[in-house]
Amino acid sequence: MSENKYTITAALPYANGPLHLGHIAGVYLPADIFVRFLRMNKEEVLFVCGSDEHGAAITLRAKKEGVSPQEIVDKYHAINQQAFDDFDISFDIYSRTSNKTHHETASEYFKKLNEKGSFIEKTTEQYYDTEYNQFLADRYITGTCPNCGSENAYGDQCENCGSALSPTDLKNPVSTLSGKTPELRETSHWFLPMEKHEDWLKEWIKEGRLNGERHHNPKDWRNQVVGQCMSWIDGGLKPRAMTRDLDWGVPVPVAGADGKVLYVWLDAPIGYISATKEWAEKNGKDWKDYWTGDRKLVHFIGKDNIVFHAIIFPILLKEHGDFVLPYNVPAYEFLNLEGGKFSTSRNWAVWLHEFLAENPDKVDELKYVLTAIAPESKDSEFTWKEFQSRINNELADILGNFVNRAVVLTHKYFEGKVPERGAVTAVDQDVLEQLEQAPEKIADLIKRYRLREAQAEAMNLARLGNRYLADTEPWKLAKTDMERVKTIMNIALQITANLSIVFAPFLPKKSGKIAEFLNIDAHSWEFAGKPDLLKTDHQLNKASILISKVEDKYVDEQIEQLKASAAMNQSTFPPQKETIAFDDFMKMDIRVGEIIAAEKVPKADKLLKLTVNTGLDKRTVVSGIAEFFNPDEIIGKKVSVLLNLAPRKIRGVESQGMILMAENEEGKLSFVSPDTDFDTGAEVR
Ligand code: MF3
Ligand code: ZN
Repeated sequence: MSENKYTITAALPYANGPLHLGHIAGVYLPADIFVRFLRMNKEEVLFVCGSDEHGAAITLRAKKEGVSPQEIVDKYHAINQQAFDDFDISFDIYSRTSNKTHHETASEYFKKLNEKGSFIEKTTEQYYDTEYNQFLADRYITGTCPNCGSENAYGDQCENCGSALSPTDLKNPVSTLSGKTPELRETSHWFLPMEKHEDWLKEWIKEGRLNGERHHNPKDWRNQVVGQCMSWIDGGLKPRAMTRDLDWGVPVPVAGADGKVLYVWLDAPIGYISATKEWAEKNGKDWKDYWTGDRKLVHFIGKDNIVFHAIIFPILLKEHGDFVLPYNVPAYEFLNLEGGKFSTSRNWAVWLHEFLAENPDKVDELKYVLTAIAPESKDSEFTWKEFQSRINNELADILGNFVNRAVVLTHKYFEGKVPERGAVTAVDQDVLEQLEQAPEKIADLIKRYRLREAQAEAMNLARLGNRYLADTEPWKLAKTDMERVKTIMNIALQITANLSIVFAPFLPKKSGKIAEFLNIDAHSWEFAGKPDLLKTDHQLNKASILISKVEDKYVDEQIEQLKASAAMNQSTFPPQKETIAFDDFMKMDIRVGEIIAAEKVPKADKLLKLTVNTGLDKRTVVSGIAEFFNPDEIIGKKVSVLLNLAPRKIRGVESQGMILMAENEEGKLSFVSPDTDFDTGAEVR
């Protein structure tokens, strides 16, 4: 029977782009390690996640890619779900907030609170973009943060200092649609009066803190989380709108609220509940069991999500009344990459799905590195050099080397059968004691969400094994004292078996491989620390390579690639325009034409008046190419001409088409010409 029951959530990533290593190191991997550890301890645990598919993050991306929001979320939900799967993140369910169960759940939740009187409906003035005819909330509006002065704060949050904002808090507000200063217009919304909840929130957050100081248990809230929450509460909470004027999201389930949807930060955390429902239905369970009673609800998040999980969602849970409040909210700081911040727009990122496509057999290697550098208490940095050195000098040279020696020597001296442990020396005794103590240390650290140190302790056990073999040198004793070799190899193999247990939460694949070499089943945590996991005469399998080293060449290539893609992104060429339909393209009639006459347009430095034989007719085209071409040198040139452009008068001359030109970074022009002598009138498409 399990003592504790956990519902573990990992922040629902927006389905507006792929996941990069920063997301993984600071949310999904630690959550997965924690969950695997609990499962190995036979605790009852449900691990839920899914795609966050609403909000401005999605609609703005859709606009940028020129497709519908649904197409965006379908695309990135699929990519991210697959990447999590390939990376062996062991969610019980990976759902999405655009599905029916979620819409119903979020809708009912809102209705219940609305009927209870948890919200205040009021009309206020909100920013409005008159060019786009849209109210501007959240990421539709940016400005200067009133708290820290950062110039890129969003309408709902400043990502620099983490504070929760409302659009009207921003100084110098600007619409992200038109780039213009918006005007104020009246609209009505449902507000959550957060200020009413200050007192119990304070008590509740302090409780998490005090408890932690006394017991060092999973309720031990991190300093940053408590600190951030307290400073917001002390600064005074304000009513916060829980609805938006948008057409993408969960419609507000109240008559007369057309054109309004639930605020994404109301709907997304409810996504944890919807995902639980969906999982429970499929598995014949009652979802309520996972949100009530003595459940321990733990939210793994990035630090920019603290206010939503430690203040707003708890208020919503408390108002609902039936549900438990979060037990802990382990928040992670940010991971940087090769000296810079991860940035989608600058393409400064290592994308998980791309890494896995190139390195399908390096899942645990990446996990190891990301845990070793996880941004637990402060921002940290991923570099490809460290990726290499952690894998080569720690995983391969310490863990891989030790496991390999233990198994190979046993095959060499004892035909792969576990030899008997005879009389133990003081050195053996010391090693056995350390073996016995290791799992407890590791477990204690995991329970306190200190996974970096926990993994380092697991590696210390492999280090102990390596040192033990180096000190006792069984390969030398094999010539003189086979009885002693038996004892040494027995102890080395017990350490190996323990390594497969203590590394299982961190490196599930490698741990399985070690168990396979030893010809044992995966063990649960209760066996960790035992010096007799392998019985005398137990037959081992052969070992194969556990960890392959990373070559210098690979590291150099990765750094090159990162710089190249960032540089490509920095070029001064404009970004891709919005997507157009095939039919739009087919409307253009472009032909091969021949320039048969050219002369300068009087008093216009840049213009040439051209006569073009289009194959259909001879017509006049005015073209802005005079700075680059002399009239004489272009006679006879075959070029591409857009024929069906509406004629327009330029400097008094009617132009009946347009010559297509390519323009380079310096603004130099070049004709777009057929590469062989081609018939005039030929269509270009
Ligand atoms: N999509 C949000 C983000 O990426 C996280 C949502 S977490 C949840 O920052 F609580 F809303 F689910
Ligand atoms: Zn700020």
